Amino acid sequence: MKELVAGYFDEWAEAISNPDMVARFKQFQNTADAADNMETEQDTGQWRPVYWPREAAAQDFSTMQGQWSCTAWEPVIETAHFDGADELPNGIPATVKRGDTQLAVWRFRGKYYATRQVCPHKRAFVLSDGLVGHDPTRPCSDDAEHQSAAPASAPWISCPNHKRNFDLVGGSCSSDGSLSIATFSAEPRGDGLLYIKPPPLGELDTGLGTTRWRVRKGESGDSPFAELDKKVQLLGRKSRKVNGIKPAVDGPVNGINRTGSETARPAVMAGCGSAPDW
Ligand code: FES
Repeated sequence: MKELVAGYFDEWAEAISNPDMVARFKQFQNTADAADNMETEQDTGQWRPVYWPREAAAQDFSTMQGQWSCTAWEPVIETAHFDGADELPNGIPATVKRGDTQLAVWRFRGKYYATRQVCPHKRAFVLSDGLVGHDPTRPCSDDAEHQSAAPASAPWISCPNHKRNFDLVGGSCSSDGSLSIATFSAEPRGDGLLYIKPPPLGELDTGLGTTRWRVRKGESGDSPFAELDKKVQLLGRKSRKVNGIKPAVDGPVNGINRTGSETARPAVMAGCGSAPDW
């Protein structure tokens, strides 16, 4: 125990005092700008991010690519950022900012892909943190070396929050037909830069800007945990001290009552049914 205690150090304190390490935690890989991805609000005297919105952003973003008034190639990031991507199963992502809009960019299996950074399910700015996947029985689209009779398919990005899968080329969602993301053409050039093909700045920000899609205070209505609190009977209860232990709830906890015998388990489920989608 002494050895463990003596060997303890705060790795985050260490990290933020190291400029090289800090540089690896930039919000955007193409600018020192930062953006607030969510508002905060107070709850029982503490600040927390606002709850997710109840409704997903069900607009069809996948057709945007053909609807912009015009598009033009623009450099967004050095391709050196993606060095080594083809040796990694998930490729290498980057988050870039153009005006008020956040975009996610990947190099995966020798190809580049660009999409918006927001997952429309809960309007979370997270897609570049997701896992890139690919149907192993089918060649990647554009994969000329792959000899297969099966039709090609684009890789997908799986949102890290609740695993909605989005096609990196077409933007459709295979796990929820009402959702989609905007995608952009992307290509590397001889000047060492990755180019994408977005619309004019104002048009992009109007359609996909952070200010427009960030979740705002009060959007979620009541706490999504109110129902859960009712089920576990936490609402209105005060913890009380019993033999030095503060029970979180009266009565049975995890199916065991205070005498140690089994009881019916509380009917609480998370992640499905009527429970909050977290
Ligand atoms: S926020 Fe992306 S799947 Fe829920």
